[in-house]
Amino acid sequence: MSKRAYVTAPIYYPSGNPHMGSAYTSTAADTYARFMRMDGFDTKFLTGTDEHGMKLQRAAEKQGKTPQKYVDEMSEKFRNLSNIMNLSNDDFIRTTEDRHHKSCQAIWNKLKENGYIYKDTYSGWYCVSDEAYYDESELIEGEDGQKLAPSGHSVEWMEEESYFFKLSVFADKLLDLYENTPDFVQPDSRRNEVISFVKRGLEDISISRTTFDWGIPVPNDNKHVMYVWIDALTNYITADGYPNQLTYWPAVHIVGKDILRFHAIYWPAILMGADIPIPVKVFAHGWWTSEGRKMSKSFGNVIDPEEITKKYGIDQIRYFILREVPFGQDGDFKISRLVSRINTELANDLGNLFQRVLSMVNKNCGATIPAFAELSDLDKNLVELSTFLVGDALCG
Ligand code: ME8
Ligand code: MG
Repeated sequence: MSKRAYVTAPIYYPSGNPHMGSAYTSTAADTYARFMRMDGFDTKFLTGTDEHGMKLQRAAEKQGKTPQKYVDEMSEKFRNLSNIMNLSNDDFIRTTEDRHHKSCQAIWNKLKENGYIYKDTYSGWYCVSDEAYYDESELIEGEDGQKLAPSGHSVEWMEEESYFFKLSVFADKLLDLYENTPDFVQPDSRRNEVISFVKRGLEDISISRTTFDWGIPVPNDNKHVMYVWIDALTNYITADGYPNQLTYWPAVHIVGKDILRFHAIYWPAILMGADIPIPVKVFAHGWWTSEGRKMSKSFGNVIDPEEITKKYGIDQIRYFILREVPFGQDGDFKISRLVSRINTELANDLGNLFQRVLSMVNKNCGATIPAFAELSDLDKNLVELSTFLVGDALCG
């Protein structure tokens, strides 16, 4: 096989259990991978866990465990999501693996060598829950007047020595990319968001931390660990062999809209800076609520993929999440909708079709299904059209 395809789901923070959100993105990526395999592509599908950073370190501390022990236990739950959702991933990467340390240090050295990394002092707002820096102007006000990240999570003031990545010098190159490859970021509404963010101007980003040590050490400066997003994004090439020769790269990245900025702005800039090809595409899907509300432990409406698939069936859940909302839009997970789609679309419509076809086959016992003949031109056009339509729906 010479045609290759590479698709990725995010690597999740194993600081909580997998929920419907992680199951959704991984199932979407799985569907794409299965389609590409059927279409004759030698396909690689990757997911895994994002195990460094302050968020993980604090979650481990809360449980009185070392970070390593904590992530060893928790990442297994995400590995097991492949059984729960019947995912066909070819690899499961953990950022605490040795192959990943090597890869991150190699990309760091490359960026340094190319003149895109320098040392300075960082001061600004940081949201541990999002593992993201925010500009003052992006913050929102909480109920008690406190400053919050756009995601609603709390922010902390950070001030420390830090290495920076010269993101600012990539603004024009990124704008050219979005212009010349209009489907690089999909759907269009997300592309527009990304373009306007970049047009407002890009500042260099802080890419190392000194106030904790649960991360990959910066080469030749062990006081610093790499910013967890530099570490996280690099997983996509680590799993394809970086710094050795890449086989499947570049990939299609399937992500949620919450992490679009990292994938559609930071990541291509980092890759350009390290002389590595940029991704094929970044598709950012929408957000699930559950029974009309944000999924949250306090509302008791978090959907557990294991429980829900046990109760309704794996294929039923896979069907429902892909069917219920057009890919890219937000959706609401309602049990009543799930039950009604299973009953009307799967049992009645599809079940009926099978019932009729199979009973006809049964009645005409001895009859055979005609051999698959040479395709007529009309058949060929239909196959092409349906591939185009399905391919288009999957790729946005
Ligand atoms: O952000 N609806 O990990 P994360 C839809 N480690 N999708 C949802 C969702 C919801 N309610 N909740 C979560 C991280 N997701 C980083 C990623 S990648 C190099 C590093 C999905 O555990 C969605 O795909 O917070 C979102 O982008 C992802 O989970 C965030 O997972
Ligand atoms: Mg998150």
